[in-house]
Amino acid sequence: MTSQNPQQQLAYATPQWWKEAIVYQVYPSSFQSHPGATTGWGSIKGITARLDYLKALGADVVWSSPFFKSPQADMGYDIADYKDIDSRYGTLEDVDALISELHKRDMKLVVDLVVNHTSNQHEWFLQSRSSKDNPKRDWYIWRKPKRSGGEDSPPEPPNNWAQILGEANSAWTFDEKTDEYYLSLFTPEQPDLNWENPEVRAAVWDVMHFWLRRGASGFRLDVINLISKVPGYPEAEIFLDPRDHKYQPALKYFVNGPKLHDYLREMHREVLSKYDTITVGEMPGVSDEDEILRTVGANAGELRMIFIFDLVDIDKPTVRMALKPWDLREMKAVVARWQRVMIERNGWNSVFIENHDNPRSVSRYTDDSDEYRRVGAKLLALMQTTLGGTLFVYQGEELGMRNVPKTWDIDEEYRDVETINYWNKVKKIYADDPEKLHHGRTVIEMKARDHARTPMQWDASPNAGFCDPDVKPWMRVNDDYKVVNAEAQMKGDSETSGGSSGDDLTVWQFWQQSIRRRKEHAAAFVYGDFEELAPDHPNVFAYLRTSAAGDEKWLVVLNYFGRQVEWYIPQHLIVEEWVCGSYGRGPVRKPLKGIVPLKPWEGVLARCV
Ligand code: NOJ
Repeated sequence: MTSQNPQQQLAYATPQWWKEAIVYQVYPSSFQSHPGATTGWGSIKGITARLDYLKALGADVVWSSPFFKSPQADMGYDIADYKDIDSRYGTLEDVDALISELHKRDMKLVVDLVVNHTSNQHEWFLQSRSSKDNPKRDWYIWRKPKRSGGEDSPPEPPNNWAQILGEANSAWTFDEKTDEYYLSLFTPEQPDLNWENPEVRAAVWDVMHFWLRRGASGFRLDVINLISKVPGYPEAEIFLDPRDHKYQPALKYFVNGPKLHDYLREMHREVLSKYDTITVGEMPGVSDEDEILRTVGANAGELRMIFIFDLVDIDKPTVRMALKPWDLREMKAVVARWQRVMIERNGWNSVFIENHDNPRSVSRYTDDSDEYRRVGAKLLALMQTTLGGTLFVYQGEELGMRNVPKTWDIDEEYRDVETINYWNKVKKIYADDPEKLHHGRTVIEMKARDHARTPMQWDASPNAGFCDPDVKPWMRVNDDYKVVNAEAQMKGDSETSGGSSGDDLTVWQFWQQSIRRRKEHAAAFVYGDFEELAPDHPNVFAYLRTSAAGDEKWLVVLNYFGRQVEWYIPQHLIVEEWVCGSYGRGPVRKPLKGIVPLKPWEGVLARCV
C-alpha cells in the first residue's frame, strides 16, 4: 500500500504510471473462450491465455467489463455478488491466476465496479424487498405508489422518470409484496442503491478493499456520477413526444447530483488514498468544466480521470437510441476543448472512442467499406495515440473491427437489452408506419451496443478462434472474420479486400507501432502541449504536440473526408520529416512546405523543428 503525500501539489504534466499506461478493455463474454468450454461464452482463462497478445500490442492494463456473479440481465452490469465470479466466466482462483500472470508481464488489472445499482438477485436486495422493516430496506430507494384515482385505484410510479435502457418504461418497479416501488434507473433487474445510507457506502468500500487486496490495481466505476439523486424526486420536463412517451428522461435529477463529490471524497479517504491506483469514473451527461475538474483536478482527491461522453455522444440528440447529424468541426471542437482544459486547468482525462456501449469507431467516424476500412481505422489510431490523456483501446478496435452487417435480422441476432427494448417500442408504436419502422432499423444499424459485442476475431477458423468450432457462440461472429482477424494482421498479410495496397501496415501493426511511439515520446504525446491548427477547416483535423522542454514537436494531420483534400503547412512551421501515415509503411512522401495533398481518410504524422 502506498499513499500520496497530501502536501504535494500535482500538475497536468506530473509523470504518473497511470497517465502513460495503455488500458485495453476486454468484454469478457466476447473476448476468448477456452479450449473445451461448451458455453459459447468467453472466460477468465481465455483472457489469461491472450496476455502475450495484449503485451505485444503494448497494453499495460487490462480492464475487464464485469465478470462477477450475475443473472446477466444487462451483461453483468447487474451484479449479484461482488466477491464471486460468474460460473460462465470461471472462479475466483481463475482471477487470482489472471492477476498473477498479468504481474509477471508487468501488467495490471482494472475491475469494473458497478455500484450505482446491484442485481435484483443480490442478497442485499433480496433482504431489502423482503419486508418494510428489514434492516436493509433503506439500502435501496423505495417509495409509495401514486394512486391518482383514490386509495383503491391501481398503483402508479411515484414520478414520470423513464428507464434508461428502455425509455418506454418507468424507472420505478412495483413490488407487490410490500406495495411500494423501487427505483431502477436502468432496468427493473438493476435496483439503485441508496447512497444516502452510510451502511451502503461502507459496504462499497469493503468491496473495493477486497479487490485491491487481491491484487487489482484500480477500478472503472460504472455510471458513478448517478449515485446521488435530487431529493424529492421531482417530475421530469417533457423532452420526448408525450403522445408516444408516458415517461421522460430525467438525467437532470441524478447526473452529478448534490452529494456526488462528498461521496467521491469519502471513497478517496476511506479506500483510494491507501493504495496506488488507477481509477476512471464513467460519467455520462456532464460537460461542465468546473464540475468535471472537481473530480479530475490534479489535487481534487476524487478520481484519476473520467470518461467524458462528448465525443461518443456527438450523434446523440436527447436519448442514445436516436440519430443526430454532426460534422468534423464539431468533433474537432470537442477534442480540442478537452485537450486544452486539462492542460490549462491541471486536470487529467481519458482518451477513448470505443467501448462496449458504442458502435465501432471505423463505422461511425470514418468509412468501413472494404476500400477504406483500413485507412480509416489507422486514421483513428493515429489521432488517439497522439492525444493527451490515458489511452483506452477497446477489444477489436486494434483490428478495425466494424459494425455488424445491415443484413442481419434484428430479432434473430441482436442480444442487448437496450436494443430489444428499443425495437419492441418501435414495433409497438409504429406498427403501421413503414417509414418510422425503417428509421428505427437505421438507428439500430448505426447505434446499437451489439455492434461492439460480437466475438473477438482471432483467426480465420470457424467461430474466428473465439470458441471451439462445434460450439455456438452466444452472439454471432461478424461475417468478415476471414479478412478481419488478429492472426492475419499480426503477420501482416495483405487483407484480400482490405483496401489500399498490400504494402501497407495492417491496422494492428499500425496500432502497435503508434503505441510504441507514444510511449517513447511521452513528453510530447502524453504530457505535451496541444495546439490546434486551422480549426475552421471542414475536412482536416491538424494539431501540434510539443514537449514542455520544447525539444520535441510533432504535427498530426488527419483527413476526415472520403476524398482527396489539400492542407497548407503554416509558414512558421518547419517540418523536418513525415514519419508515418495511414497509407504505406514507413516515412511518407509529402512536401515539407506549402500545400500537402491528402488521400481519402489519410492521416500523417510529421516531426517538426
Ligand atoms: C454503463 C455500462 O457501460 C452499460 O453497459 C450498462 O448498461 C450501464 N452502465 C448500467 O450499468
